[in-house]
Amino acid sequence: MTELPELSGKVAIVTGASRGIGYGVAEALIARGDRVCITGRNEDALKEAVEQLGAERVIGVAGKAHDLDHQAAAVERTMAAFGRVDFLVNNAGTNPVFGPMADVDLNVARKVFETNVISALGFAQRTWHAWQKDNGGAIVNIASVAGLAPSPFIGAYGVSKAAMINLTQQLAHEFAPRVRVNAIAPAVVKTKFAQALYEGREEEAAAAYPLARLGVPSDIGGAAAFLTSGQSDWVTGQTLVVDGGIFLNAGVG
Ligand SMILES: NC(=O)c1ccc[n+]([C@@H]2O[C@H](COP(=O)([O-])OP(=O)(O)OC[C@H]3O[C@@H](n4cnc5c(N)ncnc54)[C@H](OP(=O)(O)O)[C@@H]3O)[C@@H](O)[C@H]2O)c1
Repeated sequence: MTELPELSGKVAIVTGASRGIGYGVAEALIARGDRVCITGRNEDALKEAVEQLGAERVIGVAGKAHDLDHQAAAVERTMAAFGRVDFLVNNAGTNPVFGPMADVDLNVARKVFETNVISALGFAQRTWHAWQKDNGGAIVNIASVAGLAPSPFIGAYGVSKAAMINLTQQLAHEFAPRVRVNAIAPAVVKTKFAQALYEGREEEAAAAYPLARLGVPSDIGGAAAFLTSGQSDWVTGQTLVVDGGIFLNAGVG
């Protein structure tokens, strides 16, 4: 980023943001003047992302989202560097299994839950206690359209994203009126995570979408910026579906 925008005075933590959707969210928040802490497991990739986003306003804290010490370190280092943590975007997620629910390895299913749901709760507890309960703010959970309807062969992932959507409602109810909590449910967004779903057949995959293209990280960045801005001040507990219209097809044919 060449020219820095005026500081907004706000600070965000975005988990899993060395690439993909999290990076797109961090970019959108920095573009409006926020300072941001990004996380990810690979330290080198995280460092590179900090440099690309602008080390003047970004810190990186490496670690696994489900690791309690990492969660504590991310919040503590954000408070130490920037003095506040207004926004939390729970984006780090995993989907390591493909196949029928009848045969899913239960230990893997447990791991999916740990990373996608329990980690989001852990981070939310920490930002709430460190800053938000006294000062307000907003939380955004990156769920998925897989959490809204059955998704063949990625069932455990879908169940975890459905839980994330209910977690969003629970926290929205409990943290009101101080903190708004919303979710975003994307359809396929072009990232490493989703590559197998469109690689070599992007045109065909895009044709299923009423808006005639797959998503890009900035589509989710824009939605997260809205849900952490004053423009959504009266919105909480909601799941914003950002899907190029693919859900509209449910009523066709
Ligand atoms: N792309 C899609 O089509 C799509 C659709 C719906 C929902 N989503 C959701 O969007 C989120 C981001 O996905 P993406 O597509 O942007 O994936 P991605 O391109 O693979 O990026 C994932 C990011 O999270 C980090 N990460 C992965 N596992 C982590 C962990 N256990 N702890 C901490 N950081 C971790 C990765 O860095 P390291 O590998 O270095 O840790 C990377 O920075 C996920 O929650 C996913 O479920 C994606």
